[in-house]
Order: sequence, then C-alpha cells, then structure tokens
Amino acid sequence: MKICAIILSAGNSTRYISVKQKVFHELSGKKLIDFNVDLLNKHKDISASYIVTNKGLINEFLHLGYNNLSIQNPINGTGGAIKQFISNNKPNANYYLICLGDTPIFNKKILDNFIKKSTNQKIDINVLGQNLSNPTGYGRLIIEGKILKSIIEEKNCSLDQKNISLVNTGIFMLSKKAILLSNNIKKDRQKKEYLLTDLIKIGLEKDLKVSYSINSYEKIMGVNTLEEMQILQDQSQSIIKKSLMSKGVQFESPLTTFISHDAHIDRDVKIESNVVIRSNVIIKSGSTIKSFSYLEDCKVGKDCNIGPFARIRPGSSIEDNVKIGNFVEIKKSNLKKGVKVNHLSYIGDSSVGLNTNIGAGTITCNYDGKKKNKCIIGNNCFIGSNTSIVAPITIANKAYVGAGSVITKNIPSNTLAIARVKQKHLKL
Ligand code: UD1
Ligand code: MG
Repeated sequence: MKICAIILSAGNSTRYISVKQKVFHELSGKKLIDFNVDLLNKHKDISASYIVTNKGLINEFLHLGYNNLSIQNPINGTGGAIKQFISNNKPNANYYLICLGDTPIFNKKILDNFIKKSTNQKIDINVLGQNLSNPTGYGRLIIEGKILKSIIEEKNCSLDQKNISLVNTGIFMLSKKAILLSNNIKKDRQKKEYLLTDLIKIGLEKDLKVSYSINSYEKIMGVNTLEEMQILQDQSQSIIKKSLMSKGVQFESPLTTFISHDAHIDRDVKIESNVVIRSNVIIKSGSTIKSFSYLEDCKVGKDCNIGPFARIRPGSSIEDNVKIGNFVEIKKSNLKKGVKVNHLSYIGDSSVGLNTNIGAGTITCNYDGKKKNKCIIGNNCFIGSNTSIVAPITIANKAYVGAGSVITKNIPSNTLAIARVKQKHLKL
C-alpha cells in the first residue's frame, strides 16, 4: 500500500498581514509547516510527501531545506493545487493524504486513525471533520442521513448552514481514482477558484465511496490571520505544558510561561511565573527556574536555582547544584557543580570550576572589540564583588580576588590577587 502525502502551501496568505509567509512563522519555536512535515515524515505508511508551493516561495523553501516541492502556477484554489499536482506528478500511489500547510496536526493519533479507517474501509474520499463551537471561516460538512453530501465554504453558506458546527479540517484521504477526478472540479463562482471541497459532490456522482471521520482529539485549527495564529499558539503551549505536567514538571503560572516545543524538562523541576524557555533547553530534576528568567539553547543540571531575572544564553552548560541569582547573564560558559553567581554579573565565554563563588557585579571582559576571549576560573575560587576579569585569562584553583579588582594577569593557585588603587586619606 503506497500513500503519498501532499501539503498544500501555495496560497497567497492575503489575510495574514506579514512580509514573512505564514507557514514559516513559528508556533512554540517550530515553523508552522514543520508540524505536518515532521508528522508525515515519521509516518510508517507514507512513502513520499510533497509540499505544494508557489513560484515566489520556491527559493525560500529550498533555502530552508525542503526538497520535495511541487509548484502551483497559477494560484487557483485548493482544487487547482491538486489538479496541477497530478499533472506535474504522475499519480502512482494507492492513496493521497491531503493536509494544509496552515493547519497543523498536533497529535499523531489523529492521522493514524484517519489513515487506518480510510484504507481498511477502502473509502475513496474521506474527509476529516470536527465539531467547533465557533465554526466561522471553515467549510461546513452537509450531512443527510449520516451521508456526507457536500462541503460548503463559509462564503457560500446560507444562514442556516452557517449554524452547522461540523467543519472541514482540510484533511482528506483520496484514492487514486478520486484524486484523478479533481480534473472535473469547476471554478467556484463566488470564490473564483477551484475548491477541493467540491470533489465530494463529484465523487458521489461517480458512485465513489465517500465518507467522513470526526476528530475527537486536540482541535485542528487553520491559520488565516495573525489573530488565529495567536489562538493556535495558546493551543500548542497548552499541549506542551500538559505533556510536561504529566511527566512531573510543576508550573506556578502556566499561562504566563512560554515553553519551546523541544524543551526537555525533568520531573520535579519547578517553573515559576513569567519564565521563557526558548529552543533547545534541557533542565534536570529538582531545579527551580524563578520568575522572569529567560533560557535558550542551554543545559541546566540537577537541583539548580536560576533567577529571578536570570538570562542563560546559547551554549551554556550549568552543572548540578549551581545558583544563578538576579540580573545575572551567562553566555557560552560552563559552570561546574556548586558554583554561585548570585547577583548582577556577566559570565561569557568562560569556564568556572567546582564550588567557585562569583561575587556581586563581576564581569568577564570577554570582548576586545575584535574577538571573544576565554576566562578560565578554577575550582574553589572566590571572586570578590565588582571584579572585572579581562580575558584571555586563567585563574587557578583556590585563588582569591579582592573586591573591585581589574584582573589582567593570570592568577596562580592559593593566592590572593588585589588589583585596585590603594585607599588614601587626605586631610581636609
Ligand atoms: C480551507 C478549506 C475549508 C477548511 C479550511 C480549514 C477549501 C476550499 N477550503 O479553507 O473547507 O475548513 O481550509 O483550515 O479547501 N492553498 C494552495 N493553493 C491555493 C490555495 C490555497 O496551496 O491555490 C493552500 C494554502 O496555502 C493553505 C491551504 O491551501 O495552506 C488552505 O487554503 P486557504 O486559502 O487558507 O483555505 P481556507 O479558506 O482556510
Ligand atoms: Mg486556511
């Protein structure tokens, strides 16, 4: 059994007000289109999957690494997209799964069940529908005596039809026979384009087996406007947080917290309100991320305390039992077990050894205007407050630095370095 997937993504997105194409906008740190691309690529029954796009977007798609593309030209509706697809690519699969680039599927089970039902029951045209409390904007499924008779687009709906809550998600399974019938779709008078949804009537006229399934998992929503993108963003955030909570992550205020789709957060991690976790973050068990902290592309070990108001930037690795306090920025640095950087500091391009204490207001001066240089700070060091450490530099194990120092030379182990102007007392 060969199933070919087609993701329609050639529309002009006129309702989405942005220079950037809507499918490249991110939802929880993942491009809109990638939700379906990843799901389809992982599906064991799908042998090939194509993205239908337009001439203007082809280079952007290629540049971003999408290779299986099929061009739609002219842009003449979802029906037009399928007509052109079959004239560009000879249909050699048994079934075609049609998805929309602007309508992400968040749950693999939705596809599994839909594909299984369509193939097991040898349905020629199967439409995935769902009930929505607010169906505005979607095509409505017209059911008579349990039989799907047609799909009517919002623009063509009568007042009565507008009350129908069963809508088209845009996801179809078509047999080879059915996809070939898309050639019979006529231009819609209202929308002045070819509507894939018109295939239902054509299929029934040709005595094909036409049916529909109802999605009972997470709602499937399409994005036509920025406002709808926001609704979807809330939905994807809620899915991510629910999944993390089911694995033992504690949120103080999930609605104020942003978590990227790829976050790996262990059980017994506490996330306070107003925390942002961007892409590629790992947080190990027992750690607390306090309010207003912002983490991206970094690793936080076990039992750490981060924040409030901490910023952990890309390439940072924070080992177990580390404390990072308020107004501390860490960039591309490794903080070994037990390190404390509790207040108002910047640690960049550095490594800080076991149990070292970095005093308030310490700055690693890693940038000389041309390149970034490294600070290597050993184990069990004590860096006094308001110290500037000018890189490249090495501070050996158990070194102490007096408060207010500007350190420009390597410090040997077991020594105290003081580099500040001596205090004078002048008679007044
Ligand atoms: C479409 C469906 C509607 C369904 C809704 C679900 C049709 C006619 N209508 O409406 O029944 O409820 O999706 O979200 O199918 N596209 C192309 N080529 C085109 C036109 C569109 O590839 O010529 C792509 C778009 O890029 C988009 C998708 O198809 O990813 C859907 O197009 P859109 O114009 O957003 O259709 P809707 O009005 O949302
Ligand atoms: Mg749409």
